[in-house]
Amino acid sequence: MDISNETPRHIAIIMDGNGRWANARGLPRADGHRAGAESVREAVETCRQLGVDYLTLYAFSSENWNRPKKEINALMDLLERFLREKLPEMLKQNVRFHAIGKLDALPPKCRKQIDRAITSTAENTGLNLILALSYGSREEITDAARELASKAAAGEIDPASIDNEVFSQHLYTKDIPDPDLLIRTSGELRISNFLLWQISYSEIVISPKFWPDFKNADLRAAVEEYARRHRRFGTV
Ligand code: IPE
Ligand code: IPE
Ligand code: MG
Repeated sequence: MDISNETPRHIAIIMDGNGRWANARGLPRADGHRAGAESVREAVETCRQLGVDYLTLYAFSSENWNRPKKEINALMDLLERFLREKLPEMLKQNVRFHAIGKLDALPPKCRKQIDRAITSTAENTGLNLILALSYGSREEITDAARELASKAAAGEIDPASIDNEVFSQHLYTKDIPDPDLLIRTSGELRISNFLLWQISYSEIVISPKFWPDFKNADLRAAVEEYARRHRRFGTV
């Protein structure tokens, strides 16, 4: 078996286990989310050190809106504060910020910080940090299908020209390469509506650790495991 993978160009992470991390300590779930924010900072730092070009973090799913209002509010407060406080660091570190998902569903105070982070980091050329917020992959795919159908109905696109490339360009992730490595923490063996189209050929690493315990060494270990994989893309 050849062991030839370079550093992944794009790492995507399903950051799971904040609630259980807090429960295990007798703390409210919101404390788990707060502790998880520190792991985000560390993941960004590690990706910068490793020379990763894109880091996509699943922070809030379309299904997470079904959680208790109190937890949703705590998450939105945390998101707003995280973006506000981390912007100077992102600027200093040459990080370019992006967000994917149904951002209109987020509270205005969060949208404001998202817009600000996107605008002020737009010229940065280092790590691309993409937060998936109010994100659902099925919605993303149906949005793309709807947009293409509208264009076809208006005569703007020939249905026969719709191929994988054209379809990809109608997803929220257009212009972002597919993830090479997908990591999920907390040991759960599922995708939970994350990047269904984009992970067709991603290598998957599952960590048993809860997200707040997933640190620099754990991310490096996942990248080392990726390097040992043999990606075949359907060939031999
Ligand atoms: C991940 O941790 C963060 C979000 C989904 C927002 P969870 O909140 O899902 O934590 P567990 O899975 O219940 O432990
Ligand atoms: C997936 O985690 C969503 C995020 C990490 C933001 P969940 O905790 O919501 O997923 P399930 O419910 O375990 O599938
Ligand atoms: Mg969870």
